[in-house]
Amino acid sequence: MVLAEGTRATARRVLCAAVRRLQEAGVPEPEASAEILLSELTGLRRGELYAGEFDLSRRQLERYAEWIAARERREPVQRILGYAYFRNLRLQLNEETLVPRPETESVVEAVLERVDRRGGSCRVLDLGTGSGAIAVSVAQERPRCRVYATDVSEAALRIARLNAAAAGVEVEFRRADLAAGLEDLVNGVDLLVSNPPYVPAGDIPRLMPEVRDWDPPRALDGGPDGLAFYRRIFSEAGRLLAPGAELVLEVGDGREGDVLRIGELYGYVARGVRTDLGSTPRAVLLSREV
Ligand SMILES: C[S@@+](CC[C@H](N)C(=O)[O-])C[C@H]1O[C@@H](n2cnc3c(N)ncnc32)[C@H](O)[C@@H]1O
Repeated sequence: MVLAEGTRATARRVLCAAVRRLQEAGVPEPEASAEILLSELTGLRRGELYAGEFDLSRRQLERYAEWIAARERREPVQRILGYAYFRNLRLQLNEETLVPRPETESVVEAVLERVDRRGGSCRVLDLGTGSGAIAVSVAQERPRCRVYATDVSEAALRIARLNAAAAGVEVEFRRADLAAGLEDLVNGVDLLVSNPPYVPAGDIPRLMPEVRDWDPPRALDGGPDGLAFYRRIFSEAGRLLAPGAELVLEVGDGREGDVLRIGELYGYVARGVRTDLGSTPRAVLLSREV
């Protein structure tokens, strides 16, 4: 961080210099990035950064300068830190895991409501678990559920296992290409949840650099129309569902109608949509008739 020679490196001064650098580099929401990184580095709350007279050590200053340089190159804050906050959890990440998004928290809420309607204990399967965000949250917040989670990426599963252990919960993780090979779960799932890859392949080059260059392509690419995984879930995971099972599937902006229609074509009953905190439809709800 460039501070004039002999200037005290107070949190406030360092922060202002960082915001200027990020602004000049055209990084979106420069204040948020600079504040979160400094807050995580120092342990100060974001509100305290400007007020106090906290001086950074030389080591902290060097580390922060590296982080700000990484953010200038559009590395996301969570990748720089190596972890992300999601509901009650601090989830470790690696190069094979998507950064869990705040909007996915509403998908978890839709699952929890359905668990509660079923008396608080049921068998939940999270397809494409990534860092384990959905599966670990459900296991933590509804401990009487039995939670299973799959991913095709062994590296993602390694991190998801660590995240479950850190949260002190049990999730049965399986490496699987979607629902393949899960013979012991046939007719055994009451709630199927997934945040599948859903970006149309042709749109990926136009995504923000934070997503395009840093999230794993396998976590984004939803095939030519962005709907390939929903077709696969409806056709391949049906055999795992118990009679009356329910599905909660995250969807991209404006895709809820398409996904519900595909579900109906495969014989599922459309039960509506769930909005996220920004009031955008974020999950579709379906069920399998008894
Ligand atoms: C959009 S990410 C969601 C990750 C996590 N559930 C979340 O909400 O943050 C999709 C996940 O599906 C996984 N995936 C991609 N293809 C898959 C497949 N054929 N079978 C299982 N998982 C797959 C990716 O590795 C990635 O972790």
